[in-house]
Amino acid sequence: MVSNLRYISSSQIEEIFFNEAVLPKFESLMAQGNGYLEVRNSLEESYRTGSRGMFVAGVFNQYSNQEVIELANFPDLLATSIKVNGQIVDLKLNVAQGYSRKIDYKTGETIRHFYWSDGKGLDLEITFKRFVSMANQHLIVNQISLQANQACQLEIESGINGQITNSGSQHFEEGEKRYHQDQYLQLVTETSNTRIPISLNCVHRLNQKSTKRITMNRRQLKEMHSVNLSANQCLDYTKYCLVFTGRDIDYTENSAESYLREMPLEMLSEVSQKSYEALFQASKEKWSAIWQNAPIKITAADFKDELMLNFARYHLHAMSPVHDSRMNIGAKGMTGEGYKGHTFWDTEIFILPYFTYNYPQSAKHLIEYRIQSLAAAQKNAQANGFQGAQYPWESAWLTDGEVTPKFGGIDIVSGKPTPVLTGDLEHHVTGDVVFGAAEYISITGDASFKAEILPMVIQCAIFWSTRAAWNETKQRYEINEVIGPDEYTEHVNNNAYTNYMAKYTIDLALEYIHADSDMAEMMISKSAYQRLMAVSSQLYLPIPNETQVIPQDDTFLSKPIIDLRKYLETEEVLTILGDYNMSQINNLQVLKQADVVLLLLLFPEKFSKEVKLANWNYYYPKTLHDSSLSKSSHCNLALMLDEVETAYELFRSNFVIDLSDRNMNSSNDGVHAASLGGIWQNVILGFGGLRIHENQLSLTPKLPKNWDKLEYMVKFKQQKINVVITHNQVALSCDDNNSEIELVFMNQKVKFQDTITLYY
Ligand code: BGC
Repeated sequence: MVSNLRYISSSQIEEIFFNEAVLPKFESLMAQGNGYLEVRNSLEESYRTGSRGMFVAGVFNQYSNQEVIELANFPDLLATSIKVNGQIVDLKLNVAQGYSRKIDYKTGETIRHFYWSDGKGLDLEITFKRFVSMANQHLIVNQISLQANQACQLEIESGINGQITNSGSQHFEEGEKRYHQDQYLQLVTETSNTRIPISLNCVHRLNQKSTKRITMNRRQLKEMHSVNLSANQCLDYTKYCLVFTGRDIDYTENSAESYLREMPLEMLSEVSQKSYEALFQASKEKWSAIWQNAPIKITAADFKDELMLNFARYHLHAMSPVHDSRMNIGAKGMTGEGYKGHTFWDTEIFILPYFTYNYPQSAKHLIEYRIQSLAAAQKNAQANGFQGAQYPWESAWLTDGEVTPKFGGIDIVSGKPTPVLTGDLEHHVTGDVVFGAAEYISITGDASFKAEILPMVIQCAIFWSTRAAWNETKQRYEINEVIGPDEYTEHVNNNAYTNYMAKYTIDLALEYIHADSDMAEMMISKSAYQRLMAVSSQLYLPIPNETQVIPQDDTFLSKPIIDLRKYLETEEVLTILGDYNMSQINNLQVLKQADVVLLLLLFPEKFSKEVKLANWNYYYPKTLHDSSLSKSSHCNLALMLDEVETAYELFRSNFVIDLSDRNMNSSNDGVHAASLGGIWQNVILGFGGLRIHENQLSLTPKLPKNWDKLEYMVKFKQQKINVVITHNQVALSCDDNNSEIELVFMNQKVKFQDTITLYY
């Protein structure tokens, strides 16, 4: 099938013809957001295959006891039906000419355009423009411009449609529908279980005279405008929408009436006096400031490398609720229903570095989310028979605790749903959370934040010390019955990644305790402290065997090895589940994603290059990359091993995860947030060779053949340093030429002021 996805430039993609079958992919790739809310790019016309969606950070609901809490799909504000002389504009019925839908990732705007013909000589040119404002987080604006070669009668109907569900689960009550001042449509309702109020508001402005009719149905409120359009006259139909919720920082129950009902109307009156262009300009300026804060440019043989990066960065900003530390990033952001808006370890290990290096204040908020959910993590630990704090594998609102669903896809052998065991067994997240927070301090030098993460670090360490069990025979502590990052091995003992993360957490807690014993004394009992000391010194850490391979867990290396070519050759993921069920896969040496590879990457100093290479050679061929988290980690480890071209191939294959024009179903339920963070890590920490660790800046660049130049900026100790890397040299320049910068360049200490060119 010919693809309708075209890559225009390093910041734009285009849908070049209408194909109903692949609408969900475009809805995700072109989703628009500002961190507060995100809207899928569903078309104004309604098509059967589309999956309309708008999500607002923090608005979770549980439909019934049989389902887990999830980010609720909001009433739709953008569906609009257009009739021309009574005939509906539907691209399935009348083929459009000159169809194009584009997104510009630098500005966040989408523009769709086509010519529609009634088959009897009337040609109508329609342009749809849309953005979610970065300048006013509550605002969405949609403009439809129509012009025909003959006089015609247009009927345009739009409004608020609360009949939207999350795959059938209706999260909102009927609510109160109002038509105010003969122009403003308002729906105030609330989630059915968590009782979070929401307020949706819109107004339609037309530049031509119209007559209108209002209709109210179940969960629906619509306004229909009839316009008699003369030949070649242009109708601009502009829809201004505002969204508010009871989870907003400014919301208080005392002023709910005003916040949800009166204030939105006032704001609507104000914004709707401005043109689409003026409001868009304000949003564009905010986007521009975001890009300018951390400019990155790749000069490459293929512009798609930079496109992938810009795509990733755009979505990270559109999906991340960094304005509010009570919220975090979902595994698909808010671009779709996938993973129910839940937060995973994806945040700390894959996404957080992007914010830490470039937008530290945002990173801080993401960490504060974990600090604020400490009480829930403590409850979770207790419920599972441990002490301290056990972070949930999947989390939603701060107080929700563990929200991982209990069942997943089909078990091909039994025909029943496969049990999901990650919530019960995938414990490494409790180390990952601490790792992310400590890396933030190490990278930013924000030492004052230590006091804020201290209780969390100590509680997580206590969890690990009680989670570890003493093995009398082997005279060591072990961590048994877990799932490591490689989720194709369940119920394993001593997963290397997990054990090292546990030891890391305990040692960090001990370091903090020893640095400030007075403070720590108030936070930890003597016996808990003693247990930390004991587990720290006697926790079993799998070490390289005689062939330098670190056993992924106690039994992995003894399992059968199978031919994986069939699964590796396809771009589709999880195809192995069509042949084997989970208990069969558990007994094979096959990995879903990076496990030991990730361990080596996160703790590079702990392992020699020889060990890294041996493990790369062992695990890489056995890894199916059935998770979008896998390739970016492999790419960066390959770079540590100087396998630059293999790394480049891995980097390029990140493209397949979302942006591929071959696999048109890969992003149907949302784009992959961790992969987006991984793409940035590949460019800057991988090829760009940047590392800041314990206040030490180092650069070990490795450009692939296909790149001529990589330019980026790094902020280090209040300084902005511009880095320009080519194949044999690195030029550094610093904004403030009065202070001296010290860095490690390709393992050599270098000092400079102002500018320096280094050769390699
Ligand atoms: C991966 C996990 C990841 C989750 C959410 C799963 O497929 O195996 O590591 O956290 O997706 O992205």
